[in-house]
Amino acid sequence: MNICCIGAGYVGGPTMAMIAHKCPKVKVTVVDINAERIAAWQTDELPIYEPGLLKVVKASRGENLFFSTEIDEGIRNADIIFVSVNTPTKTFGEGAGRASDLQYWELCARRIKDVSESDKIIVEKSTLPVRTAEAMERVLHSGENGIHFEVLSNPEFLAEGTAIADLENPDRILIGGHETKTGQKALGQLVDIYANWVPRERILTSNVWSSELSKLTANAFLAQRVSSINAISALCEATGANIKDVSHAIGTDSRIGSKFLQASVGFGGSCFKKDILNLVYLCETYGLHESAAYWQQVVEINEYQQSRFVKNILQSMFGTIAGKRIAILGFAFKADTGDTRESPAIKVCKELSEEHAKIVVSDPKALDNAKLDLANLENIDFEEDVYKAVNQADAIALLTDWNIYKNLDFEKIYSSMQKPAFIFDGRNVLDHEKLFDLGFEVYSIGKPGLSHLN
Ligand code: NAD
Ligand code: UDX
Repeated sequence: MNICCIGAGYVGGPTMAMIAHKCPKVKVTVVDINAERIAAWQTDELPIYEPGLLKVVKASRGENLFFSTEIDEGIRNADIIFVSVNTPTKTFGEGAGRASDLQYWELCARRIKDVSESDKIIVEKSTLPVRTAEAMERVLHSGENGIHFEVLSNPEFLAEGTAIADLENPDRILIGGHETKTGQKALGQLVDIYANWVPRERILTSNVWSSELSKLTANAFLAQRVSSINAISALCEATGANIKDVSHAIGTDSRIGSKFLQASVGFGGSCFKKDILNLVYLCETYGLHESAAYWQQVVEINEYQQSRFVKNILQSMFGTIAGKRIAILGFAFKADTGDTRESPAIKVCKELSEEHAKIVVSDPKALDNAKLDLANLENIDFEEDVYKAVNQADAIALLTDWNIYKNLDFEKIYSSMQKPAFIFDGRNVLDHEKLFDLGFEVYSIGKPGLSHLN
């Protein structure tokens, strides 16, 4: 069995490494147009940071796991082709700012059609609007070569930072196939691959459209929980309630559950916003305006939460931050990744910069990406060493929940800062009372501030 995966990114690389690791008899080739990325996958400096990934890659690389820029050859030799290319939000034309940009996916479908010499199973690994498979099938079968392409949907549910654990022990694998003889046969073949390590009862099957839509829905529900708790965090700050107590109280209701109730400066990442906007666009396309407005609000609360965080900084620091040094601790959109796509830190830094603050950004893994994201801003520095970043700062804004930030020497930090020394905990991960006792002015999400100045 030969598998080819088109797209060697955050999803293609780790998922294929896991399949190769768990299925030693299957030859897996990951191809990409980005030669630099492919070269990096062949070294110990992988192109993405993901805990535990290097070990899994090294277990099979050169044995049954290969990375290559020979896309046509990869396609021709494959029995199953996973397509895991990016599907960003469209920035132009019809649906700009909401619809998925499917040009990379369609280019792949055309390439597969043009170079294939035998029947193949095509697996949608990318997140796609419901009914994309229909359009892709038309493209794939538009040739006259008589080749049969069977399209399956197999969305990926891994989260960055925990990708290896998610892939090794998934809550579920979802595979959608057509309710035809060839559709069910192909579906069975993909089930058999995952069954090498995933218990059968966790491999769910459905028709293609349900599978495509389930992926968008899962992300929308997860993001909705974050926006819901963040909306309540604003009310906590206004009323003196504490969001941690509220999260705990509601999370112990088994019908609600405790996960994804952590109030924060907002959700980021390449998926949530893009996938919700895509869902909104789909609802609009089908004339379901009320459903569209409902999901749109999840994104709007997220933007509000980020701007609210900056407004809190401005108000607490006497209405001006012009010329003040603000140390940003954490730029990645969450801990344990170097990924900064849609990170709340981007918007926060831009808004702080509009107020003429002097910003210094620190992050253990995301500084290269941060430099690209903030390339147009003035008055900005990047410093990997946290203690240097906070030296002489007027304020600290903690934006990523990296573990290292929880155990910093805050006494030393306090003494190196300007006074009054402000700390804004955008992740609610620090010991606020202890920081207050050290002398800090402490502000967090969903809790009244702790100030010595009142
Ligand atoms: P990515 O940008 O990291 O990787 C995509 C790769 O595809 C890039 O390396 C790009 O060069 C390559 N590519 C684009 N067009 C190509 C072509 N025509 N031929 C060959 N290679 C091509 O993206 P990602 O984060 O891995 O996401 C991929 C898909 O998976 C998206 O649809 C995304 O929504 C979905 N997804 C992502 C995550 C995540 O955590 N990042 C989780 C679940 C699902
Ligand atoms: C998400 C989905 O979880 C995953 O299933 C899907 O495949 C891809 O999209 P990811 O974006 O990598 O994964 O990370 P996730 O852990 O979902 O966090 C997304 C954002 O929400 C992060 O910025 C995170 O900090 C934030 N978040 C999460 C909160 O602010 N509060 C929470 O309680 C949980």
